[in-house]
Order: sequence, then C-alpha cells, then structure tokens
Amino acid sequence: MQKIYIESAGGYEKLKLVTCNDPSLIKGEVLIDVSYAGINYADCLVRIGVYASAKKYVGWPITPGFEVSGTVTAVGEGVTNFKAGDKVMAFTRFNGYSSKISIPACQVMPLPESFTLEQGACFPAVYMTAYYSMLQIFYLPPDANILVHSAAGGVGSALVSLAKDKGYKVSGVVGRSQKIQHVLDLGADHVYDKSDPKFNWAQVQKDNLLGFDAVFDANGYTTIQSSFDLLRPTGKLVIYGSHSLIPKSGGKLNYFKAIWGLLKTPKFDPMKMISENKSIICFNVSFLFEEQRLLAQNMQGLLELIKKGDLIPPKVKSFPIEQVAEAHKLIESGNSIGKLALKF
Ligand SMILES: NC(=O)c1ccc[n+]([C@@H]2O[C@H](COP(=O)([O-])OP(=O)(O)OC[C@H]3O[C@@H](n4cnc5c(N)ncnc54)[C@H](OP(=O)(O)O)[C@@H]3O)[C@@H](O)[C@H]2O)c1
Repeated sequence: MQKIYIESAGGYEKLKLVTCNDPSLIKGEVLIDVSYAGINYADCLVRIGVYASAKKYVGWPITPGFEVSGTVTAVGEGVTNFKAGDKVMAFTRFNGYSSKISIPACQVMPLPESFTLEQGACFPAVYMTAYYSMLQIFYLPPDANILVHSAAGGVGSALVSLAKDKGYKVSGVVGRSQKIQHVLDLGADHVYDKSDPKFNWAQVQKDNLLGFDAVFDANGYTTIQSSFDLLRPTGKLVIYGSHSLIPKSGGKLNYFKAIWGLLKTPKFDPMKMISENKSIICFNVSFLFEEQRLLAQNMQGLLELIKKGDLIPPKVKSFPIEQVAEAHKLIESGNSIGKLALKF
C-alpha cells in the first residue's frame, strides 16, 4: 500500500509518498481500499507541527487525514453492519492519506447513493464538525439568524448547507469575491466579501440590528472581537480554529506572526458576559473520538438528512496523490472553494 508519510514538522517537502505493508485487520474494524482522501486545513497544521491532537495521539512520524471513501475489502470479528464490496465513507483520526486503512466500524458510514466516491471522501469530517457545532452543542431557535465565516470553505459550506436545511437565516463571510456565488448556491441569504474595499463590520451590524443568534468563527484574532460584538443577547460565538495565525504561503510557521496573533487575541471578561447574556463555545472534534454516543447521534442525524435529500453533496476538486503538496498549497492560500481531495 501507499501512504503520505511526514517524518517531522515542516513545509511541503515533508510530504513523502511511501510504500509500506498493508494494515492488519483488528477486531471491530473495517479494512477499506481507499479511493479518495478528503483534505482539511487541519492537515496542514499537522504537517507544520502545531496540531495539538496529532501531538497527543500520534507524534512523529505521522500520516495526516481525517476522512476517506472507498470499498470495504474485509471486516474484523464482531462487525456485522458492513461486508466486503460495500462502498463507504469514513472519518479517521489521522492516517486518511493511505491507500488502505483499517478503522473502527463506528467511524464508517455507507456511501449514500446520491454521492460519488469523490464527494463521499469530503463529507464525514466537515459535516460532523458542522453538525456538532450547530445542532449538538446548544439550542438555536427555528428563526435563528446566523453568521458563518469562511463560508465557502469545507466546514463553512457544510455549516451554510445544514443551517439552510434547518430554515435559519444565514449570512456568509468570504475573503475573495470569486467565492460569493458558491455560498449563494448553498442557499445563503447574504454574503459579505471582506476583500471589498467598502466592507466593514459596522455595515454588518446595521444590516442585522437585532444581532446574530450564533456566529461561527475559525479565523482567530482577526475577527473574534467583531464576531462577539455582533451577537444579540443569548447569542453564541462558536470558535473552532485560528487559521489567521498561519501564513497563507511558504508552508512554514512564522513564529513572529503566530506570537503577534496570540498576543492580539482578545480576552473576554466572564462577569461582563453574564450581564450581556452572550456565550463563547470552543471545541475540537479530533479530541472527541472516544465519545461514542455523540458520534453515533451525529452520524445517524447526518445519514437521515442525506436520505431525505436535504444536504447538497460537497463541491470537490481532486488531485492525484502525487500532487499532495499542490493541494496543501492551495488550501493554505485561502483561495480554495469547497473541498479538496486526494485520489489514489
Ligand atoms: N475544531 C474542530 O473540530 C475543527 C474541525 C474541522 C475544521 N476546523 C477548522 O476550521 C477551519 C476551516 O477548515 P477547512 O478544512 O474547512 O478549511 P477551508 O475553510 O476549506 O479553508 C480555509 C479558509 O480559511 C480562510 N482563511 C482565513 N485566514 C486564513 C489564513 N491565514 N490562511 C488560510 N486560510 C485562511 C480562507 O477563507 P476566507 O478567506 O474566505 O475566510 C480559507 O479558504 C480551519 O481553521 C480548521 O482548522 C476545526
């Protein structure tokens, strides 16, 4: 089998395609011949060496990858819901950039009939993140008004799509005008373009006088304060990333930029927040794989939505596995729209 192997933290040159032994099948696991591996921004953080759960659960060397699609070739003892030949999609805690992978059956879902294998590889991690952050952590009223940052990206697109299925009013924020149409196609009611010289947060506030019920923000220090200020009383700021700390080119950590960003990250006063009735919620799903009940509810909820035809399959651009560095460069640049995948 082949996999992407990263021996130590660094730039694109660290992404090596190697040949190695096939994984052995373990009790309760499913062996998958991988067709596509979905790419997530977090894979770049893993490569750069700043992803906390990669340090906690794997260390070096590491094979990144949070989601795959493919065909089951064998099932381990005790697995009754899959058999050889089944087309599946699955989320993985690392190792997704592998042509064969053995993973616990509870992380595997049947590939929906309406999905191609390419789309299936780009669904589990981003939709699981979006579903958890919007529908499992807290309650949103049926007429909720929400704001989604990086709305044309992987998680952002999933958030917009899920929110529209729920009937919420959705405003998206994008960093490039080329992304606006994609977000409108997902059903967003309005899209703000940060690259427009006329864009400012005061205008967003004017357009949404009551404030937002929830704002979803993975930018970090550049927008957290504005996002918080835009909440209405009872509103929630959901923070799930901090990509502004990372350069958009070069592939390496700029320590000065990162420290500057951390110093500029706003601090919130809980006593003031009590009176304002605003909350901040922070999470990282890669630390939650042991929460089996949560995982099962999340997967079941998503599969039901797909069955009803309520979710738009992700828009995907694929790269051959040999071009993994190009794919990392593209997602790091901030120019990608929808999802990227690697084809084995
Ligand atoms: N906590 C969790 O459990 C969890 C799970 C999945 C993903 N995440 C986080 O969610 C975010 C989105 O992940 P994704 O895989 O779906 O990526 P993505 O949104 O497809 O791509 C990243 C997007 O972030 C925006 N961005 C803003 N500043 C950036 C910078 N300095 N460098 C690069 N991009 C920048 C860009 O969009 P705009 O310019 O249009 O804003 C870019 O297109 C990431 O921060 C990721 O780490 C967290």
